[in-house]
Amino acid sequence: MSSEPSKSNSSSGSLSGKVAIVTGGGTLFGAAVAKTLIADGAKVMIVEINAESGSAAAKECGANFFHGDVTDDASIAKLIDSTISAWGRIDILVNLACSYDDSGAESTRAQWTNTLNVNISSAAMLAAAVRPYMKREGTGSIINLTSISSAVAQTGRWIYPVSKAALVQLTRNMAMDYAGDKIRVNSVSPGWTWSAIMDSLSKGDRAKTDRVAAPFHLTGRVGDPEEVANVISFLASDKASVVTGADWAADGGYSAMGPEQAVPAIPLLEA
Ligand SMILES: NC(=O)c1ccc[n+]([C@@H]2O[C@H](COP(=O)([O-])OP(=O)(O)OC[C@H]3O[C@@H](n4cnc5c(N)ncnc54)[C@H](O)[C@@H]3O)[C@@H](O)[C@H]2O)c1
Repeated sequence: MSSEPSKSNSSSGSLSGKVAIVTGGGTLFGAAVAKTLIADGAKVMIVEINAESGSAAAKECGANFFHGDVTDDASIAKLIDSTISAWGRIDILVNLACSYDDSGAESTRAQWTNTLNVNISSAAMLAAAVRPYMKREGTGSIINLTSISSAVAQTGRWIYPVSKAALVQLTRNMAMDYAGDKIRVNSVSPGWTWSAIMDSLSKGDRAKTDRVAAPFHLTGRVGDPEEVANVISFLASDKASVVTGADWAADGGYSAMGPEQAVPAIPLLEA
C-alpha cells in the first residue's frame, strides 16, 4: 500500500502572530519545517551552523537567518537577542539540529560527548533560553525532533538512537516542569523521511529510497519532510492546547509494525 504524500503548504493561519525558532534549518528537513510554519502564519528564525546552507534555506523560505552553534551558550544568547529584537516575542521552539556521528560499538568518547551535546544538551539549553519569553506571553510550544531510532536497536548505531531515546524522556521531564508556565512540550518521531542524508545516500533516487523503505513502513514509502512538518505545525498551534508530554509518531506506521512486517508469517510454517 502506497499512499500519496501531501506536500501542501496552503496557509491555515493557525500560527498567525507567532514567532518560531527552528534549529538546523539548513537542509531539506529543517527548511520544510520553516516553510510550513511560515505558510501557517508564523515568523521563523532559522539557526544553523552552516552559514551557506542556512542563509540559502532562509532566503528560499522567507525566514530570518541566524548563523549560530546550538552547542555554544553565547551563541544561543545572541540568537535569543536577535529573535526578540526582530519580533519581540518567542512562541515556538523546534529542536531539529542533530548530529548523526556514531560508530556503534567503536564510537570514541569524543563522538559520544559531541553527539549527545548536539542532540540532547543543546535542546535543553535552548528550551531554558526561550522559557522566560514563553512564560511572559503565557503560552509556548516546544517540539523536539526524536526518531523511530529511539525505540529499536539498529545495527552499527549506538549513540544516535540513545540520544533520541533520551530526548523522548527529556520531553516528558520538560513538559512536567514547564506546564506551570503554560508551555507545552512534545516530541515528533519521524520514520525514514526524504532528507539530505537519503538524497545523498541514494544519489537523489527517490523511487529507490521508497522501494527500500517499503517493507518496514505501512505506507510503503518514506515520508516527505512537509508531512512531518504538518505534525510539528499542529503541535505548535493552539489547536494542540491539550497535548503535552507526548511523543508523536510521524513514521508511516513503522512503529506499529512488528518483526513479522506486513506479510503473513504463519504460511511459512506450512511451506
Ligand atoms: N532524515 C530522517 O529520515 C530522519 C528520521 C528520523 C528523525 N530525524 C530527525 O529529524 C531531524 C532532521 O534530520 P535531517 O536528516 O534533516 O538532519 P540533517 O543532518 O540533514 O540536518 C541537521 C542540521 O543541523 C545542523 N546542525 C548540526 N549541528 C549544529 C549545531 N551545533 N548548531 C546549529 N546547527 C547544527 C546541520 O548543519 C544540519 O543542517 C533530526 O533531529 C533527526 O534526528 C530524521
